[in-house]
Amino acid sequence: MNTWVIDGGQPLRGEIRVSGAKNSITKLLVASILSEQPSHFSNVPNIGDRDITQEMCAAVGATFSNTNGHSLRVSTPTISSNIISQELGGRNRLAIMLMGPLLHRTGKAVIPAAAGGDQIGPRPVDFHLQGIQRMGARVEIKDGNYIIQAADGLRGAEITLDYPSVTSTENLLMAASMARGRTIIQNAAIEPEVVDLVSYLQKMGAIIDYQVDRTFVVEGVETLNGASHRLLPDRIVAASLGAAAVATGGDVFVRNASQPDMLTFLNTLRRVGGKFEVQDDGIRFYADGPLKAIHLETSVHPGFMTDWQSPFLLLLTQAEGMSVVHETVFEDRFGYVAALQDMGAEIGLYDSCLGHRCRFASSSYKHSAVIKGPSKLRSAEVTVPDLRAGFTYLIAAIMAEGQSRVHGIDHITRGYENLEESLRSLGARIQPVQ
Ligand code: EPU
Repeated sequence: MNTWVIDGGQPLRGEIRVSGAKNSITKLLVASILSEQPSHFSNVPNIGDRDITQEMCAAVGATFSNTNGHSLRVSTPTISSNIISQELGGRNRLAIMLMGPLLHRTGKAVIPAAAGGDQIGPRPVDFHLQGIQRMGARVEIKDGNYIIQAADGLRGAEITLDYPSVTSTENLLMAASMARGRTIIQNAAIEPEVVDLVSYLQKMGAIIDYQVDRTFVVEGVETLNGASHRLLPDRIVAASLGAAAVATGGDVFVRNASQPDMLTFLNTLRRVGGKFEVQDDGIRFYADGPLKAIHLETSVHPGFMTDWQSPFLLLLTQAEGMSVVHETVFEDRFGYVAALQDMGAEIGLYDSCLGHRCRFASSSYKHSAVIKGPSKLRSAEVTVPDLRAGFTYLIAAIMAEGQSRVHGIDHITRGYENLEESLRSLGARIQPVQ
């Protein structure tokens, strides 16, 4: 059921377990196709984006067997097709990631140009395509598809990304792992999920050096083996729950939350006055005393993640004074603010950079927010615009006095496992309706 009725005014309390990262499993499944041999993954999240990516991999020949809900065996001895359908390509943003494996296995990849996923900015794939062209592939666009070909195989190249893009870095790392010679990727993303992919590729037999200045150096190898890999915990889910615990005035232990991947989030939470306690097997997040307004800018790792922005902004609606949030990763990631305004939050949006001058300085995108708190939130009827904003709406509805209706829950289950049961176990009063 895609609509939930939520009775708010209840702090979240209890314990919740976070499983593997969405933004890791999706790339690992694709990377497994580089090899003819099977791979095993554990700590796999049961989320919608995993299912979509499995379907995409199955469409090119991968088969899956589940040993239990959180582990998965994938095997692609032969490639049955190198074409991703428009329908599959439109369901998330992963289709373009198949270009490297398909080029290595068949010399060709046909990938829909229109991708799905969250509408949080234009989200072009020019870095991916320019990078693969430097590695010797030919790219043309025909009937709404990128036709990418490398009949003689890919060769190593020197590539400098204009911005440290996560999926471009991951895509080019996969392509470079089996290219002839050495590939240097400069200004690369170094997010923990990227390093998780590199760790898996290394287990498969890849040679990838990781230098201090955002540079990866990849020595191409001829074949890659299957491998076993345990996914890193989802630091976006963990932080969202942490922010939710504090914003609702509650106390939640997030089992498996990993401190090293969340240092910036934890520092920022401490500046605001939110409390946390790092334990051996997770992190306890709780509210104790008033919250203070802060200035915050999102950035690439190790900065404050853009995916932490919306739950944290919601938390800032409860802080005393004026907070500022400057979004510098995606130009259009405040689409959810209108609903929070309807619920009583005092938030102004601006197209100027309230912080350092970022790539969006001369655009008309409203990418800075000023939040005046604390605000008492009231219930509302809202429709989820994207995954992270959707989770924020749920928490806002849990915080608000009265009964809210949240439509479009399927956006959220793409990235949050067992959502209804988990939130209920923390005390949320949720009723799915037709
Ligand atoms: N960019 C380009 N050209 C490209 C690629 C990126 O201009 O070819 C720009 C983007 O438009 C954006 C910036 O570079 O302004 C950063 O984009 P990036 O490529 O890093 O983002 P992404 O790879 O599309 C991944 C995650 C996002 C997460 C970002 C940032 C996946 C599948 N998605 O997106 O996750 O927000 O990195 O960390 O890994 C989510 O999980 O809800 C989500 C949106």
